[in-house]
Formats: sequence, C-alpha cells, structure tokens
Amino acid sequence: MQLSPLQSRLAASLIASCLVIILYVFLFAPQFAFAADLSQVPSRPGFSGSSYDLDDTADLIDARRPSYESDFSLFDRSIVGRVVDGATPIAVDTPTLGNLTPESTFAYVFEVASVSGRSAQEHATSHELRRSLDGPQGLAAGGGGDEELGSELDVVRRQTASKTLYISVNTCIQPSRISPDQTTIDPPQLTLYVSTSSDNTSPGPENTQGTQKLVFDEGAVMFNTSLDRDIYFSISAPEVSETDFVTTSPYNYEVAVSLTGYYRSYANNAEPNLIWVDSDASSSLLTTLNLTSLPEEVVSTPPYVVFVQNTKNPNINGIRKSYCGLSNWAQIRPLEDGQSQASTGLRQGGVANLTMQEFYVTGLNASANYTGIVALNTSLSLEKRQEGGSGGGMIVYNAITFTTKPNGACTFVFNLTLCTETRYAVPGNLAKFPNGTALAAVYDEYTQAMWANFEKVLQQTPCQAPPTERYSLARDCDDCKQAYKNWLCSVAIPRCEDFSSADESYLHMRNINAPFPNGSFVNEDIRKEFGDKKAFNSSRNVEIDEKIQPGPYKEVLPIFLSIAKFKIWV
Ligand SMILES: *[C@@H]1O[C@H](CO)[C@@H](O)[C@H](O)[C@H]1NC(C)=O
Ligand SMILES: *[C@@H]1O[C@H](CO)[C@@H](O)[C@H](O)[C@H]1NC(C)=O
Ligand SMILES: *[C@@H]1O[C@H](CO)[C@@H](O)[C@H](O)[C@H]1NC(C)=O
Ligand SMILES: *[C@@H]1O[C@H](CO)[C@@H](O)[C@H](O)[C@H]1NC(C)=O
Ligand SMILES: *[C@@H]1O[C@H](CO)[C@@H](O)[C@H](O)[C@H]1NC(C)=O
Ligand SMILES: *[C@@H]1O[C@H](CO)[C@@H](O)[C@H](O)[C@H]1NC(C)=O
Repeated sequence: MQLSPLQSRLAASLIASCLVIILYVFLFAPQFAFAADLSQVPSRPGFSGSSYDLDDTADLIDARRPSYESDFSLFDRSIVGRVVDGATPIAVDTPTLGNLTPESTFAYVFEVASVSGRSAQEHATSHELRRSLDGPQGLAAGGGGDEELGSELDVVRRQTASKTLYISVNTCIQPSRISPDQTTIDPPQLTLYVSTSSDNTSPGPENTQGTQKLVFDEGAVMFNTSLDRDIYFSISAPEVSETDFVTTSPYNYEVAVSLTGYYRSYANNAEPNLIWVDSDASSSLLTTLNLTSLPEEVVSTPPYVVFVQNTKNPNINGIRKSYCGLSNWAQIRPLEDGQSQASTGLRQGGVANLTMQEFYVTGLNASANYTGIVALNTSLSLEKRQEGGSGGGMIVYNAITFTTKPNGACTFVFNLTLCTETRYAVPGNLAKFPNGTALAAVYDEYTQAMWANFEKVLQQTPCQAPPTERYSLARDCDDCKQAYKNWLCSVAIPRCEDFSSADESYLHMRNINAPFPNGSFVNEDIRKEFGDKKAFNSSRNVEIDEKIQPGPYKEVLPIFLSIAKFKIWV
C-alpha cells in the first residue's frame, strides 16, 4: 500500500505521539501501580493500621492515624506509608537490636523488592547449581554435553525457584527479678507474629487476622516462609507481673532475616554436642564430639563456644536457646576482652584419631551442679560449610548437666606428655599441688621413668628382624608398645572418686588411715575392719603415697577405667 505525503505525515506524528505516551507511562508508572493497590482497600474501611496514601478517598483519609502528617501524592506508600505504619523495613543478613517494654509491639517489613534484583538471582542460581550437581537428573542434563538442554533446564529452574525467608529472633535481655530469691517464676516469653496475608500489614496481639503466632522457646524463635510477597512480622512483649519483675526495664532482642538459613538457631531434640569428661572440686573438662570424620581433616579454628552456669543461678532461665541471651548472662562465657573462665583448644586423639574441641572450665564451686551449653559458629564448621549453611550463623545446642566433686583428694589432670589420653581426676593433695599442672608433672615424671625402663627391655627384642624370625606375624613391636603404654597409664595413674561417693563394685577404698584435708578421719568402723589391709590403707603405687600424700579416696578400678574411656570416645 502506498501512502500519500499527507498520510505518511499523519503516520509519523501518530508514532511520535505514541512514543511520548509510552515515555510518560514509563516515567510515571508508580502511580498506576499504586492505583492497583487501592482496589483492595475500600472493602476494609475500618482498618486502623492502614498506610495507604489515598488522596481521593476522603473517608479513608479521615480514618488515618492522627500522627499522619505528610500528604505527598507524588510518592507511593513504599516511601511515606511505612514510616506511618511503624513497620520498619529490615534488610537481609543485618542483625538488628531492639527494645520492648512489656505489652508493646514492634513491627517489621521485609520487602520482596529489596532482593528481587541481582542478589536474589544470585541466591537462586547458586542454590540451583548446587542441587544440579548432586542430583542425578542435574548430572544427566548438564554433564551429558547437551548444553542447550542444560541451559533450558536452568532457565526453567530459576523461574520456579521459590526463595525462602528465614526469620530468627533471640531475647538478649529479660525484665529482671525484683528479689533474687524468687526463682520459681521466670519472665514470660516474647511472641513473634507473622502476617501471611497482604491485608494485614501490622500483625500483633490486637491484629491477628491472617497471622501466625509463635511464642519464643527459651528466648529464641525461628520461622521460615516462601518469599513471594512482602512479609510483615512483629515482635510483641507480654504483660509482666509487677510483683515479681521490674516492669520498667525493657526486653531487648536481636532480629535477623536471611535467605540462606537461620542467622540464630537452636537444635531441637538434637544431641547436645557436648560431653562431660570429668571434674574435680573446682574445675571440669568438657569436650565436643569429633569435628572431623577422617584423621587427615584439619580444623584450624575452634568452631564452638561454651556457656556454663551454676544450676542454682536463675539468670539464664528462659533464654537457654538464645545465643544473644547466653552471651550476655551465662556465668561463664567468652568475655569481650577475649578472657574466659573456660579455656578451649583443639585436640586430636581417641580411638579413631579424630579432632575434637575441649573446654577446661576453672573457678567452679565444690559439690555443685552446672549446666553446660555449646553454640556452633557455622562458618567455622567443616560439616556445615559443606552443607552450604548460612555464613556467620550460630546454632545453640541442648544443655547438659555436670557436677563438681567435694573438696577432697581428687584433682583433675590432663595434657600429660606420655599418657596423652589421661584426662580425669587423680589422687592429689591441694595443699602440696594447688592445681592440676603441678600434679600432672609428678605423674608424668613417674610414667616416663617406667617407660624408659620398658624401652630398654624392648631394645633387646629383635623388632627389625625378618618375618621368619619374628615371635608373631600378627603383632609387632609397635603394638606391644601401645599395649604397654595403655596398661602403664591406667595402672600408674589411678582415676579418683571422692571418698564420699556411694559404694560401687568398680570403686575401691584407698588410703583410709590418712587424714582428710580438714584433719578429720574416715569412720572408725571402716578403719577397724579394713585399716590393716594393704589394699585399703595405701595407694596402688607407692610413689603416690610418698610424693603426693593424698587423703582417703576411692579408686576406679583400671578394668572399669578402660570401659569408661571407651564410653567417652565412642
Ligand atoms: C520451615 O518451616 C517449616 C514449618 O513451618 C518446617 O517444617 C521446616 O523444617 C522449616 N525449614 C527449616 C529449614 O527450618
Ligand atoms: C565422628 O566420627 C565418626 C566416625 O568415627 C563419623 O561417622 C561421624 O560422622 C563423625 N561426626 C562428625 C560430627 O563429624
Ligand atoms: C559459687 O558460690 C557462690 C556462693 O554460693 C556464688 O555466689 C557463686 O556465683 C558461685 N560461683 C559459681 C561459678 O558457681
Ligand atoms: C599442654 O602442655 C603444653 C606443654 O607441655 C603447653 O604448651 C600447653 O599450653 C598445654 N595445654 C593446656 C591446655 O594446658
Ligand atoms: C599452678 O601451681 C603452681 C604452683 O604449684 C603455680 O606456680 C602455677 O602458676 C599454677 N598454675 C595455674 C594455671 O594456676
Ligand atoms: C572433713 O572432710 C570430710 C571429707 O570431705 C567430711 O566427710 C567431713 O565431714 C569433714 N569434717 C568436718 C569437720 O568438716
């Protein structure tokens, strides 16, 4: 078709007009989007939390909260409305602290738009790549060299990959007790309200329509939801009894959202990941499970932190699953200057020669019960890193309880030179050896002397002889050395229990004629019956009675010792 000059001029100006309109639509699009938002509102006119900026809906303007002052019709609600609402925008991986007085609520909003750009795509991509690597379908598609199919699959996955938002909140401070003697009632827990409905932008105790209510568990809460729209959530403080607690002191919490996993989490019904090894009257050794599954694997930084609390002290009641709470309140915790009553280190050993982390806790009270809790820094954990866990996250594990011994003959020793597996309380004497270090040196010296004798004997054995001349093909000199070492360590360094501990078949009374540290003696009936028997009136080895001179104690018989050790290491 041929156009006349007039027609082509019309066509040109039509096209130009269209371009201008498109340009206009392009520049002022937010107003149109905002018109779409409006359609929902008139159906809920009484909605007090409304933040919609409705300049042509008079009755709704009147319903606005008195504090509302700005009326800029040019700005959409993402700028003005939120401030009105008090729903504070929160960004990913940015832990935020907040205060709440009792019976108040603070609202947050996570805007899906804040991650719908590049960062969200990155998350989705890395997530999908990882899955396509270990899934057999992914391998078949990507690995077969069929690039077109592979990339097609990738596109489909990226579009369907739904992002998940992980919300975690920890209670850092609770209202304090009016009387420290009031230990029966703990402060009530905070509550998290999450709105799953786009109609409810300020969920809370008075606004529960379309919300999920989650009461904190021991000071912590975790919630995940698919991120297909803005997520509104709020943290609410309950009513607090004025007779038991200082109601003017606020709750303090730490909230964080992430797309890769919980920033603060706790392990429910899981292993405590902490084992009590042994104690004396003032110190205790705790260990984690193995951190590695092969002896060659190397852990460079200890990934756990430990918190220890006298069970009589109520300060961590109600926040035992909160990393923030434990870091603030536990009696023994890592301090800001890097000091702690718990020293920690990595140790490779045990039956399978794996690495674990040990905690040596000092300054404890005698005959007391303690709670021990570990938290794992996931960015330092070999296993969690392999799983692709979130960086910088903390997992709090379940508590264990342990006890300290009475002030008696037993002192805890570890870190010996020859008997590297010896980590338990041994017969000691606090007047002569106030701490384990000096006492361990005595046992070390003795066992090394015995070991030197054994090595001299072994030198007369043809260890390097050809197989035909050997005593046994199944065992060599190294096996012999190891067996002797195990025997020597368990016999020369007896494991000690306090004399007051209940009689058990695996316990044997020793040194019953000697005085206790406080000068008193063992019950006279016992001394009359057993006092003249060498097995009861002395230690297993003379060196202990001569150099250490412990008071009366009970020895864990060596055969049970190896079973106890086995229990610890398996
Ligand atoms: C997400 O929440 C659901 C229940 O709401 C739960 O079953 C699931 O384990 C959670 N996912 C994670 C990774 O915690
Ligand atoms: C501990 O070691 C065992 C093998 O002895 C292994 O199966 C297990 O996965 C290890 N645990 C951890 C947490 O690495
Ligand atoms: C030891 O006991 C005292 C007095 O009962 C107490 O104040 C202190 O907190 C206790 N310390 C530990 C570490 O248990
Ligand atoms: C163990 O002993 C070595 C030296 O024998 C010492 O350097 C190290 O600090 C000790 N470890 C602990 C935890 O006491
Ligand atoms: C252990 O006791 C000895 C004295 O016997 C003392 O010199 C040393 O400083 C003490 N070590 C610790 C860690 O308390
Ligand atoms: C002395 O210590 C022993 C053992 O610890 C205990 O049974 C006894 O009651 C104590 N005697 C006094 C007078 O404190």
